[in-house]
Amino acid sequence: MTAAGLTARRAGPLTGVVRAPGDKSISHRALILGALAHGVTDIEGLLEGDDVRRTAAAMGAFGAGVERLGEGRWRVEGRGGLAEPADIIDCGNAGTGVRLIMGAAAGFALTASFTGDASLRGRPMNRVLKPLGQMGATWICRDGGRLPLTLRGGGLKHIAYRLPEPSAQVKSAVLLAGLQAEGGCEVIEPEATRDHTERMLRAFGAVVEVSEAGTDRRIVLAGGQTLAGCAIRVPGDPSSAAFPLVAALITPGSEVTVKGMLLNPLRIGLLDTLGEMGADLAVTNVRDEGGETVADVTARYSQLTGVEVPPERAPAMIDEYPILAVAAAFAEGPTRMLGIGEMRVKESDRIALMAHGLAACGVGVEEEADALTVIGGQRGNHPVAGGARVTTHGDHRIAMAHLVMGLAAEAPVCVDQPGMIATSFPGFVELMRGLGAEIAHDQPAAA
Ligand code: S3P
Repeated sequence: MTAAGLTARRAGPLTGVVRAPGDKSISHRALILGALAHGVTDIEGLLEGDDVRRTAAAMGAFGAGVERLGEGRWRVEGRGGLAEPADIIDCGNAGTGVRLIMGAAAGFALTASFTGDASLRGRPMNRVLKPLGQMGATWICRDGGRLPLTLRGGGLKHIAYRLPEPSAQVKSAVLLAGLQAEGGCEVIEPEATRDHTERMLRAFGAVVEVSEAGTDRRIVLAGGQTLAGCAIRVPGDPSSAAFPLVAALITPGSEVTVKGMLLNPLRIGLLDTLGEMGADLAVTNVRDEGGETVADVTARYSQLTGVEVPPERAPAMIDEYPILAVAAAFAEGPTRMLGIGEMRVKESDRIALMAHGLAACGVGVEEEADALTVIGGQRGNHPVAGGARVTTHGDHRIAMAHLVMGLAAEAPVCVDQPGMIATSFPGFVELMRGLGAEIAHDQPAAA
């Protein structure tokens, strides 16, 4: 029997004002830093997707008090450090969760075992284990640095680590471990990645020095700093807001506003790219909320033109290429996305799955090792045929990207494993329906 999927079909224009769910990156960090801190951290707007709930449960298992006070309102009572958990930590689908928690746990004299779902068990952990090992942590894991693994922390020493790949998760794992290391740590990024850990460490009272030399970004953290609990307001996730915004851009007659979206410059490469493609986007009500810039963003249906997205923009929009590829399918001319090899080690091989799904929907694509070209505008104003059932490999962003495509394609688009959308965007279907989208569960095929 085939499991039920979700099907999106073309209907009228999308209109309305919505709020994106809380930012996933910031939500994980708020819980982890709250657990490492002394005292109470009150969080508002926490993303209540499965990934973040796993991190909340993990922080409880490491000894913090973690309590849900109401919708998006969570309180963490930190004990100033992590204690040995009594059981295996299951991070589900969350790469950010497991990598950041391993970094934090490595700072303490404890043994902790980690696992996750099939996707997470297939993802590389060596990128985090390598610097943690250089600092003095030890571990045993499956071949290729895969989960499940058992980590032994404590007694860490200083590291000066140059990131071999642009990864905010690796940077953050080193910084969290470095908090407890003798002499602290230094991380050098050849390409700047999202800086939420640095910003939030400061909000918790730590001194973090950031300097720039050419394209290098150098982050220095003194060891032995104590964190003090604080209040965190989580802004709307630009990686989630991207789906209703692009849906409006490609669906004739639409106008959609997402309120309270995070505008951190290291997260909004998609807005720059869509702007270059001719998207009608308006950013209003720009304000500062808890050390981050947020704004309301309005997207109106637009005639898009294909562009070349430079490789240096990849870290600022790495999770947005699936939905950019959909926008590109409706644009006039090719869109070339360069330097996106990191997409292959996300929740799925996102280059391969987008190429496959777009081709199944009648869109011209060219896949390379670290690039993807989408050839839009092949069939006039509504260029995308659709009419496919797409395999998502349980990847939430692959599912949402294809559903958005179905809203403007000639024939419906169906995705499998739609339950995985809740890892990052619980309420996605209801939010899109509220804007006028037609997205429905299809009946499971008979056995
Ligand atoms: C994240 C960093 C990125 C991103 C992920 C969230 C973070 O991963 O893709 O969704 O919160 O630090 P990488 O560090 O692997 O680039």
